[in-house]
Amino acid sequence: MSRLVINGTKRLKGSARVQGSKNSALPILAAAILCRGESVIHNCPELSDVRGTINILRYLGCDVGFSGGTLVCDSSGLTKNYIPNSLMREMRSSIIFLGALLARTGSASMCFPGGCEIGPRPIDLHLKALEALGAEICDDCGVFRCTAPEGLHGAKIALSFPSVGATENVMICASLAEGTTIITNAAREPEICDLADFLNGCGADISGAGDSTIVIEGKSSLRGCCHTVIPDRIAAATLLSCCAATGGRVTLTSAIPSHLGAVLSILEECGCDVDIMGGCVTLDAPNRLCAPKVVRTMPYPGFPTDAQAPVMAMAAKSRGTTLFIENIFENRYLHVSGLLRMGANIKVEGRVAVLQGARCLHGADVAAMDLRGAAALITAALGAQGRTTLEGLRYLDRGYECLEATLSELGADVKRI
Ligand code: UD1
Repeated sequence: MSRLVINGTKRLKGSARVQGSKNSALPILAAAILCRGESVIHNCPELSDVRGTINILRYLGCDVGFSGGTLVCDSSGLTKNYIPNSLMREMRSSIIFLGALLARTGSASMCFPGGCEIGPRPIDLHLKALEALGAEICDDCGVFRCTAPEGLHGAKIALSFPSVGATENVMICASLAEGTTIITNAAREPEICDLADFLNGCGADISGAGDSTIVIEGKSSLRGCCHTVIPDRIAAATLLSCCAATGGRVTLTSAIPSHLGAVLSILEECGCDVDIMGGCVTLDAPNRLCAPKVVRTMPYPGFPTDAQAPVMAMAAKSRGTTLFIENIFENRYLHVSGLLRMGANIKVEGRVAVLQGARCLHGADVAAMDLRGAAALITAALGAQGRTTLEGLRYLDRGYECLEATLSELGADVKRI
């Protein structure tokens, strides 16, 4: 079993490129099955979740090549409309194949998706929305069997919560449905806009992505296109948290600063200087951070739930008290037990965590229990005195492309053994 060994308190310095966005790449790859001909996806990150998605595409009969960050998918040979449990349980985003397969073949069946255990993660909004588009769905002992006996047609879909995945499923499925679909209370995350850009490049007609009302005019067919995935705002937030935890000075290149607004404002509240120049963000952190008062996770453009864990780790050594309120997932404090082992002072009560900044953290043997929790434990270890060993790297590898190599280049003492 591999683990990271981190010797902390090295100031991070230098510049690093932000990887392509995991949460953009995964739905775009699922959407590629809608298209005739080849889809060419640049800036696709090398992650185990991307490899899991490629395994699904190949299982379905697509021809997929992936090298040097460019993925080419030709879905002409798609023959299957079923995804087995062994492929579904790898990650949550596999549920996006439900809308994609339904649109492409008129039917789909699959098991409940897997992913990190950060809450119950129901899929009721996905199913209800697909039913509004004409799907008939039955739960056959844990296998969802989905058909569209009357075909797929446009519909008015009012989401009760702006779910990212449900918005994506509807956008994909409705792109090949007959007529107009209007999603209200849609998710507004940048990854929604990236998916819309990809689908529009393939010939779809989607307007309003990034606003809470999205309109999709269904088309009879789509063709593959060339698309470049946006930079990963959560990987960027993680690198900035790592920099701040060490009192460092780091420039991120290939970032989209406007996607980082809520995170940058917390970093400024901590006493960091933030400088933005085009697609570069430079963070200059003080030796000891001031604790941000409140970190409240919200749908975009609010503070992202995915950045809560690394930002909490960054704040663990700050001066003052921070109130964290996790509004998106119920069980998103899995990193706290590892932080406590490193000397952090945090109390969790349901969706609220109260962090009192400690004078210093110390290295410890810790294990990640989810993707962003892994990033949090690395963030804390970089600012902690002494040696930390981190197990559970399978979670880290789901979402971060060579994080330890990037951190080493910035001056961290981190090795995978
Ligand atoms: C996506 C991201 C994930 C991020 C999350 C919130 C991907 C691959 N993953 O996950 O990294 O943390 O957005 O920004 O893009 N919900 C329901 N019923 C549903 C669907 C969702 O109740 O059918 C609830 C969820 O339990 C959760 C909330 O809605 O409490 C938000 O979930 P959602 O926005 O759907 O997140 P994901 O798309 O799963």
